[in-house]
Amino acid sequence: MQNILKQQAESMKDLLATWRHEFHRCPELGYEEFETTKKIVALLTEMGYANLRVGGRELTTGVIADIDTGRPGKKIALRADIDALPVAEETDVPFRSERPGFMHACGHDAHITMLLGAAKMLIEHKAELNGSYRLIFQPAEEKGNPGGAARMIESGVLDGVDAICGLHIWSPVPSGKIAYREGPTMASADSFLLTIKGKGGHGSMPHLSVDPVTCACAVVSAWQTIVSREVDPLEAGVISVGAINAGKVFNVIPDNASILGTTRTFRPEIRDYIESRMKTTAELICEAMRCTAEFAYTRFLPPTVTDPAFTKYAVEIAKEIAGAENVYEMAPTMGAEDFSYYLEKIPGTFLFLGTGNPEIDATYPQHHPKYKVDDAVLPLGVAAMSGIAMRFLGRS
Ligand code: NI
Repeated sequence: MQNILKQQAESMKDLLATWRHEFHRCPELGYEEFETTKKIVALLTEMGYANLRVGGRELTTGVIADIDTGRPGKKIALRADIDALPVAEETDVPFRSERPGFMHACGHDAHITMLLGAAKMLIEHKAELNGSYRLIFQPAEEKGNPGGAARMIESGVLDGVDAICGLHIWSPVPSGKIAYREGPTMASADSFLLTIKGKGGHGSMPHLSVDPVTCACAVVSAWQTIVSREVDPLEAGVISVGAINAGKVFNVIPDNASILGTTRTFRPEIRDYIESRMKTTAELICEAMRCTAEFAYTRFLPPTVTDPAFTKYAVEIAKEIAGAENVYEMAPTMGAEDFSYYLEKIPGTFLFLGTGNPEIDATYPQHHPKYKVDDAVLPLGVAAMSGIAMRFLGRS
């Protein structure tokens, strides 16, 4: 069966490349994917999908396609994100972005294409399936919080769904290979803002002021000991300060200082711990140094934690399609992804399809202005996604 799928996907090679180039030419930011949505609807309709749902709660873009075989069985969802980035493209491809300042620099054009390819394969094989499947073309992955995944879930996209599978095209993985991870796979991504209030004064007379700058420096140093001294060294965590703002003039002590940054973790317990210890440390240091502290912590994205059992199942199929030697377990990445919201609710997995290919200059990291996708790998993604859904719903 997997060989048939592979051959069918391979025969769609040119069509897939054409679709991707069309999406690549028209990159649209999260919540503004109007043309993209229209095109997805048109292609799905052409394939025979009806009753497509566009948008959702507080959403006007994105598409949900459902097929019920009419036979009892399980329900699986496949998801692709569809938004682009505010990046000015610097590649030399003939189908470059026609919208200056915007680019599909994370390969979401490939995700749309591969899910459309899977849609075609699945509807053609409908007679061989039980249960039902749902295709989720999700807007605004890059928006984080509240991003497209959270809003799609609020719109009921996971109701009655037993498992979900997503796939990201990934430049650090060589073309033609598929990488996976069981359990914590991608990190959480949160942001924090500490506002320190002191009392400004003349730089020559610090004793008459309450200096928020020395206080901010003490807080930043103390925070560095949370991960290094309090979190188990075998666990991962990051606290990075990206901006410190205070004062403007060389001889004036300012009234206030602010510290802005991000944290990354793989486990909910460590995420909670870091948030709570950052707050306590900041408040007590500020109090000791006569300042007041206001600590705001925004939960942006939870960690992406795949279900080990479902991942094993998906990997088995990926190996049959790509060859066992082309499928491997990778190290977790500190990057984040809003697929995490789905995996908080139901079992599923998130695979990484390699697109790293020095021969066509596809070596730049995700989000880079020279980011390139290797079209040759699109059929592999299509076969993997449809293969995973088809065995899950298989009649035999
Ligand atoms: Ni992405």
